[in-house]
Amino acid sequence: MSYDLVVIGSGPGGYVCAIRAAQLGLKTAIVEKRPTFGGTCLNIGCIPSKALLHASEMFEEAGHGLEALGIKVGAPKLDLPVMMKHKQDTVDANVQGVAFLLKKNKVDSFIGAGSIPSAGKVQITKSDGSIETIETKNIVIATGSESAPLPGVTVDEKTVVTSTGALELSKVPAKLLIIGAGVIGLELGSVWSRLGAEVTVVEYLDRILPGMDDEVAKQFQRILTKQGFTFHLGSKVTKVDAGKAGAKVTVEPASGGEAKILDADIVLVAIGRRPYTEGLGLETAGVTLDRGRVVIDDHFKSSVAGIYAIGDVVRGPMLAHKAEDEGVAVAEIIAGQAGHVNYGVIPGVVYTQPEIATIGKTEEDLKAANIAYKVGKFPFTANGRARAMRSTDGFVKVLADAATDRVLGCHIIGKGAGDLIHEVAVLMEFGGSSEDLARTCHAHPTMSEAVKEAALGVEKRSIHI
Ligand code: FAD
Ligand code: NAI
Repeated sequence: MSYDLVVIGSGPGGYVCAIRAAQLGLKTAIVEKRPTFGGTCLNIGCIPSKALLHASEMFEEAGHGLEALGIKVGAPKLDLPVMMKHKQDTVDANVQGVAFLLKKNKVDSFIGAGSIPSAGKVQITKSDGSIETIETKNIVIATGSESAPLPGVTVDEKTVVTSTGALELSKVPAKLLIIGAGVIGLELGSVWSRLGAEVTVVEYLDRILPGMDDEVAKQFQRILTKQGFTFHLGSKVTKVDAGKAGAKVTVEPASGGEAKILDADIVLVAIGRRPYTEGLGLETAGVTLDRGRVVIDDHFKSSVAGIYAIGDVVRGPMLAHKAEDEGVAVAEIIAGQAGHVNYGVIPGVVYTQPEIATIGKTEEDLKAANIAYKVGKFPFTANGRARAMRSTDGFVKVLADAATDRVLGCHIIGKGAGDLIHEVAVLMEFGGSSEDLARTCHAHPTMSEAVKEAALGVEKRSIHI
């Protein structure tokens, strides 16, 4: 068997790469070691977490949000197995969808663990122990990432869990302790908090959501605190004693000092993810790694000719859409086209309530780079549609270059922020200005009018504040 391209890993990076390569006429195969396609994202990441976030949000709404709209429904009752079935049905539909797309595009698929004995060869070890070797002109490594471990803390996926275990709990924990106030901690903390858990978050830094706009993070922390979260910032977990009846967690100030012990039924370790290359045989193949990541050049080429890498296993944000865009770009490059990813315009969304969405530079980035900028800000309290939906928490912030007016970043906290951000993504992709955004007619009444008003705010000419 000989291919133009073999992709190892079928997450959003790998399967999108394989489909694009097949569209471009390359004879393509994909190798996946899980029984289903779709990678972390579809099986144990983006998709199941969003299914539970949606369901738990509806539960919360039914319990607290409807009465003020004149809807009396009584206290909602949780049927967790049905909620989990909704999650699993969503996952199943998505992973089957990927299998269908691979077939439709005539991509050959192999279920088994891939390894690279040398450039031009991929060896597949199947679950029955049999081994098949296929030949290929090009290989794309798209093997993704795994939860980063916390030294000294043993994950059993029962009492001490990663995101994978936290998506599978068989009952709502009375007390959930989360290590890490990043995206996973706050999204999955929201799920279980809405369903009744008392959620405590221990974060090493003195802020939540590092890397995101400071003002957004501060406002979000206040909102989450109102929703019932307790935060221990500037704190580290030094020990977790886990037994059948729960865990005792030792927490100390990050800079050292007196320890306190917190009780938890479930402990979620969410301190980041690390690239996954186990079993690929990259040392033998001669592929260079840097702190676990496959080192690539601007065209996704590794240190070995004919071997490329994309997605979570390489540098850059660990996001599904970043992996997808890299998958398309590398397929186009292998097919002789000019594939490219604009890393300056990759949105990031936290799917909590309210949502957070961010694109481009933050104020902190611009200050550090000594770039003069102007700020336009508009609160949802002044937006008619937000009032009509009783969703007035949050604001839109547009950052524009002080000299050229080019939009350099946008940060939104508010209902539906993850959808609102994309008009700014398109604007930035075209190098647009705050004036372009401000002069674009926005339908009334919509949440996106707040984006226009924030753009108007850059030159201090917002109409509605
Ligand atoms: P992966 O999706 O990790 O896929 C890699 C695949 O390679 C896996 O299926 C693995 O089994 C396979 N593999 C590994 N080694 C081998 C081998 N030797 N042979 C064969 N197959 C192999 N990102 C977002 O953008 N939005 C979100 O809402 C979001 N939510 C998330 C929620 C959670 C709980 C988690 C954990 C992650 C979330 N992410 C989200 C991150 C997102 O899942 C990753 O950025 C994305 O999946 C990376 O895609 P990838 O293709 O690089 O790798
Ligand atoms: P993260 O990098 O977002 O957050 C980890 C947090 O843990 C940080 O705040 C960090 O300061 C803290 N931390 C690190 N070590 C610590 C320690 N010893 N004690 C206490 N705190 C510590 O990582 P997270 O949340 O695990 O997510 C992993 C990746 O998955 C992220 O890079 C994210 O891009 C992706 N993801 C994306 C989602 C989305 O796009 N909506 C949803 C979920 C995950």
